[in-house]
Amino acid sequence: MKEMLEKIRSDFAEKIAAAETLAEIEELRVGYLGKKGELTSVLRGMGKLAPEERPVVGQLVNTIREYMETELGTKLTAIKSAESLKRLEEEKLDVTMPGVKKEKGSFHPLNQVIDEMKNLFIGMGYEIAEGPEVEYDYYNFEALNLPEGHPARDTQDTFYITEKILLRTQTSSVQIHVMEHKKPPIKIISPGKVYRSDSMDATHSPVFHQLEGLVVDKGVTMGDLKGTLEIFAKKMFGENTKIRLRPHHFPFTEPSAEVDVSCWSCGGEGCRVCKGEGWIEVLGCGMVHPDVLKRCGIDPEEYSGFAFGIGIERTAMARFGVKDIRNFYENDVRFLKQF
Ligand code: DAH
Repeated sequence: MKEMLEKIRSDFAEKIAAAETLAEIEELRVGYLGKKGELTSVLRGMGKLAPEERPVVGQLVNTIREYMETELGTKLTAIKSAESLKRLEEEKLDVTMPGVKKEKGSFHPLNQVIDEMKNLFIGMGYEIAEGPEVEYDYYNFEALNLPEGHPARDTQDTFYITEKILLRTQTSSVQIHVMEHKKPPIKIISPGKVYRSDSMDATHSPVFHQLEGLVVDKGVTMGDLKGTLEIFAKKMFGENTKIRLRPHHFPFTEPSAEVDVSCWSCGGEGCRVCKGEGWIEVLGCGMVHPDVLKRCGIDPEEYSGFAFGIGIERTAMARFGVKDIRNFYENDVRFLKQF
């Protein structure tokens, strides 16, 4: 009996030494000390022993049980602490590691310029007006003193839907819509897309953006126009900016002018940004032609107005030093990220 117990004990010792997981420990505990465990079976068989042997064997069984319990407990603690160490190691947080950066989008440079212009004019009391990009010939040309066959139409060839419906070539068409529906005082701007059947190159695109301005009221003069454009230029291009009006011709304004701003890069000395000119052309403008007012039911004897049209791409290219207009439309993140 004693030898059998010794054998059980040494088997156990071997197994517990090799055990590595909590499951193995549990298996040993059940296998030796459980209801049907090996040591328990020995106790059950005690009845068959001679009475004088019982206490000796009982004593031995108890010693072995205590030994097993101690061993199981020690091993259990060891495995648990090894496991938690391992977990700590695995879940270790290196607070010195660089974080994972969230990529944040930004407004497209063209929209940045448009938003800046909108804010500026809203600050001066202008309202935003909208007009359709698919437009009647009448609004885009005829009502703006560009009747069929007018030579100036050639410079604004566009995409035709039908003979009388086209993609607008200028935001000036919005002037007509506004004046048809609203009587003076009128003070609006209208930013938007315009189209021309130009081939794509570094400075041309069949789709681009303009921002139209229109003010009609009693006693509006060219001085008001110049003052407004001066504020615009200073706010857009810097406080020291000067403007220069050059006589020009637009069929829907009289007189008409093209407006240059002094170069924001060199201040007028001449540099690469202004191509040595000292000035950069940014817009066309003029006093609304009396025939245009009349056509919209506004009496030119009572009211006068001024209008201007700003090229958004041109402004953005000069402002950000972009050399090729196509960059704006390619949506290359490496380009867009810079603004
Ligand atoms: N629509 C003109 C263009 O595309 C720009 C322009 C010139 C707009 C004079 C105006 C204006 O309102 O008064 O070239």
